[in-house]
This record gives sequence, C-alpha cells and structure tokens, in this order.
Amino acid sequence: MRIAVAGKGGSGKTTMAATLARIFARQGYCVNALDGDPNPNLAAALGLSDDQISRLRRVPREEIFKAHVDQDGDNSLRLTRSFDDVLNDYGACGPDNVNVLMMTGLLGAGKG
Ligand SMILES: Nc1ncnc2c1ncn2[C@@H]1O[C@H](COP(=O)(O)OP(=O)(O)OP(=O)(O)O)[C@@H](O)[C@H]1O
Ligand SMILES: [Mg+2]
Repeated sequence: MRIAVAGKGGSGKTTMAATLARIFARQGYCVNALDGDPNPNLAAALGLSDDQISRLRRVPREEIFKAHVDQDGDNSLRLTRSFDDVLNDYGACGPDNVNVLMMTGLLGAGKG
C-alpha cells in the first residue's frame, strides 16, 4: 500500500505522515517513509537522532531512476537498482523500525 500526504502549507502533512508511519510500523507493517519536501524534515518528525539526520544523504533521483515508455506511450520511471540497495545506501532506520529516505532537498534556484 502506498500513501501520499499532500496539501496546503503548514496544515500538518509532515506530522500526520510521521504519525501514520509510526502507527503502521508498530502494527507490524514494513514502513518506508519517503520525504519529498524540498525542505525535508520528515526524519525529525519520525524521531531520528540528530546524528542520523546529519548523515542522511539525498537520494540522487537522476541516478536511480530511468524513464520508461510503454507500448501505449505512457511514461513512467523505473528503478535502476533494487529498492533495498537504495535503502542501504541512502536510508536510515528510525524508532519503530520506520525506514526513511530523503528524496529531494534544496537543489538551487529553479531546480527544486
Ligand atoms: N493536529 C495538530 N494540532 C495542532 N498543531 C499541529 C497539528 N498537526 C501539526 N501541528 C503543528 O503545525 C505545524 C505545522 O505542521 P507540519 O510541519 O506537520 O505541517 P506541514 O503541512 O508538513 O508544513 P509544510 O507545508 O511547511 O511542510 C507544526 O508546528 C506542528 O507541530
Ligand atoms: Mg512538511
């Protein structure tokens, strides 16, 4: 199951996403929490330590995805490596065993 949390600025998206992630993980689900905010703070909301957060590296989307066009002309992105590999290289595991990946960040003017 994939859950995307989106909406108005400051409305509680990060708080709600982190809370849902921790609740599902406590119920025994394997939870991967992906932060897509250009100013990422999901790791902090999930309760990772300052040390873990400082070591988190942005996942280089341009390296781990390749564009794919199917027979009907529909576009999609496919992973060039297994998800577990990406998690090992760029992820961190927080309280309740929630895995977190930082998918973006401040990339420069007009690049985010
Ligand atoms: N249910 C709630 N009741 C009261 N305050 C809340 C609630 N949920 C979140 N907050 C507070 O509101 C503020 C914004 O929450 P949060 O950072 O989760 O929003 P956001 O939608 O992720 O914001 P942004 O658009 O900046 O990413 C925080 O200070 C948070 O602690
Ligand atoms: Mg937020």
